[in-house]
Amino acid sequence: YPVELHHKHVDFKSVKELPESYAWAPHQVEENLSSVGSFSKEMVPIIDLDDPKAQNLIGHACRTWGAFQVMNHGIPKQLLDKVECAGRNLFSLPVQQKLRASRSPDGVSGYGVARISSFFPKLMWSEGFTIVGSPLEHARGLWPQDPGAFCDIIEEYQVEMKRLARRLMRLMLGSLGVTEDDINWMADNNGGEFSTEACDALQLNSYPACPDPDRAMGLAAHTDSTLLTILYQNNTSGLQVLREGDGWVTVPPLPSTLVVNVGDLLHILSNGLFPSILHRAVVNRTSHRLSVAYLYGPPSSVEISPLKKLTGPAHPPLYRPVTWTEYLGTKAKHFNKALSSVRLCV
Ligand code: SIN
Ligand code: FE2
Repeated sequence: YPVELHHKHVDFKSVKELPESYAWAPHQVEENLSSVGSFSKEMVPIIDLDDPKAQNLIGHACRTWGAFQVMNHGIPKQLLDKVECAGRNLFSLPVQQKLRASRSPDGVSGYGVARISSFFPKLMWSEGFTIVGSPLEHARGLWPQDPGAFCDIIEEYQVEMKRLARRLMRLMLGSLGVTEDDINWMADNNGGEFSTEACDALQLNSYPACPDPDRAMGLAAHTDSTLLTILYQNNTSGLQVLREGDGWVTVPPLPSTLVVNVGDLLHILSNGLFPSILHRAVVNRTSHRLSVAYLYGPPSSVEISPLKKLTGPAHPPLYRPVTWTEYLGTKAKHFNKALSSVRLCV
């Protein structure tokens, strides 16, 4: 694919007609937003973490969907609002200013197009900002006078998300009869902190209103290469998950509710009991959509393989051990061109 395409940055607001480079083939945008709203489809399960049965419900959702919405998760509404506001401020900066914080070609943090863009011939109607570790370096480029306000919010969110991710991992594993002690890097042997730190990242996504949403794609179909992902979406629809039999199912934004996706590494860890979910984001004509994905994975040097407790003569391990880094390399190499989606790859 022509590389230069992916380095083009349009000022979305100034585009009145969808450029050809953003127009996807019809079969790739089938069932975009305009056709949703049929009530025959099932809904992604909504789980209340205060429910005493939450663990079982989460287990069931992970086996049957690979995704669920979670409420009463303990993340204050004000913090979600602040993060959304920080994201809005960032993406509303002039293009030239955002480009100063561009992700370098081999880097992970910064402003740019979706990482999976290079696998597709067409551009996606979105822009993103990735934060691994401290947000300070890039925030300084964007707001030389006062990077602090942005950083404080992001750092607070990172801490809260990590706590929630651990709690969700405990519940997901618990539903399989597995505890943290069964997983070396998660084993709690130093007073509440994991012995080895999990790796994580924050991905802010912006989907501007689009002049021709039925031919555009916000974020192409993919599974996340994480253990799990926690997604906040503002009050604008766009996230869809692929459900066998139902096709693309919209995951509606609900106030104070977060979406949780099973990622490929949890798929592997659970020996296929929890399938990672194929999802995408579509765009619309009128509203700007914002989402914030918290990506949670194992320490980078740790090999992930099907859990011993879940394997045996009747259930041989389906996947070989891989580190997160190794997995990302394999997935990129085997991107499924025929299906035009970036799926689990083992
Ligand atoms: C993602 O898959 O990372 C984001 C999806 C969304 O914006 O809803
Ligand atoms: Fe994703």
